[in-house]
Amino acid sequence: MEKVKIAILGFGNVGTGVWKILQENKKEIMKRSNCQIEVAKILVNDINKKRDIDISKEILTDNIDDIINDESIKIVVELVGGRDEAKQYMIRAMKAKKHIVTANKLVIANWGEELFKIADEENVLFYYEASVAGGIPIIREINESLTANRIEQIIGIINGTTNYILSKMTLEGLSFEQALKEAQEKGYAEADPTSDVEGYDAVYKLAIMASLSFGTKVDHDRIYREGISKISAVDIEYAKKFGYTIKLLAIAKEENNKLELRVHPTLIPSSHPMANVNDAFNAILIKGNAVGELMLYGQGAGDMPTGSAVVGDIISILRNNVKPSELKALNDDADFKEVKKSEENESEFYIRLNVNDRAGVLGDTAKIFGGNNVSITSITQDVVHKEHVLLAFITHKSAEKNINNSLKKIKELENVNEIESIIRIESFN
Ligand code: NDP
Ligand code: HSE
Repeated sequence: MEKVKIAILGFGNVGTGVWKILQENKKEIMKRSNCQIEVAKILVNDINKKRDIDISKEILTDNIDDIINDESIKIVVELVGGRDEAKQYMIRAMKAKKHIVTANKLVIANWGEELFKIADEENVLFYYEASVAGGIPIIREINESLTANRIEQIIGIINGTTNYILSKMTLEGLSFEQALKEAQEKGYAEADPTSDVEGYDAVYKLAIMASLSFGTKVDHDRIYREGISKISAVDIEYAKKFGYTIKLLAIAKEENNKLELRVHPTLIPSSHPMANVNDAFNAILIKGNAVGELMLYGQGAGDMPTGSAVVGDIISILRNNVKPSELKALNDDADFKEVKKSEENESEFYIRLNVNDRAGVLGDTAKIFGGNNVSITSITQDVVHKEHVLLAFITHKSAEKNINNSLKKIKELENVNEIESIIRIESFN
């Protein structure tokens, strides 16, 4: 049986997960890959750092050259995270004729095209299943199982950290800060959790999925983005009253050759299966014109689930797969598709105002909505202070432009103190 040496760059959450899987499932992996895998080197920042896993100091290095210059290493698994160094490590490894496996969505979303071109030129394989939705095999699903379809839409909960935070706030009444701290302790969050909390991580993942699904290059800067840092316990309560649950959704739809791409907190009906996707679990609902609706559910972050996707990619390389088809769509910008401006999108909306308790304020507000072609489905109001009332509306499906125009005028009303929340609703129709 062939012996294959690999190197792991990074021995944090995911790196240790990969190590554990390679040890625990050694027999199965050997059978399935027909190879004996040896982890020859592991790159870390600090060789002397105390680690939970007992590992020989011989294997650890803080010098990438020890890996690049070692011709016996055939596969490099990039799990250091971040951008510039990770990208450079991968480029150097490919130029040294090493295959790549990575979980780095930031690098793929920004420089995928450049990296895949180098992989082609150097005739090496480049796999990145773990970059989207942790343990869920979504990249293979899109590129292999669903290739018979024209994909019409993807709606996903694709960030484990924010889903953990929102579920803990909703189900256990934890504060945002407490829940974030727990997500960090469990190893779900990025080194800089702003990427999770403000929706950047989900934007990178959506850009990758949309590129592959719609066969066009999707620039992540064109994706509308809002994070969850402004979601309050009050909104979670109001959402419940109206029969909804708040989730951070990533949405990609194609209609008439135009793409609608957005990541934002969303009210979804509490009866929908997505509303029950809790903790660090992810779920992705795909609609293909042949298969109809398909939903994938699984752990979207964490050492072992992410390690599962990474080791799956290593095995694919060892099975000597030909060039992975998944590279194609990200490389191909010939079939250009326009991305709609957010003003062109339509949604139902939840809007919450803080108003003075005066006769006529509800009427004035409703009149402005009506005058801008925004029709209201439900209203609720609560006195929060002897003077102040919280007024919450659910609208019918409306053009974002009409919502924005209404809110501009509502803001100017004498008895409106603040527009406290504007959250889109997804009804999955
Ligand atoms: P961690 O921060 O837990 O681990 C990073 C590791 O890389 C550490 O071992 C660190 O060394 C090492 N490292 C960092 N920078 C360098 C550098 N410049 N040179 C050498 N070594 C370096 O990250 P994660 O394991 O959580 O994430 C890794 C990647 O996987 C990221 O791209 C992330 O987005 C992605 N990912 C993470 C998931 C998760 O659940 N955590 C899920 C899916 C993808 P030292 O140990 O010495 O500090
Ligand atoms: N920080 C990411 C998340 C890790 O929480 O989803 C998985 O990509």
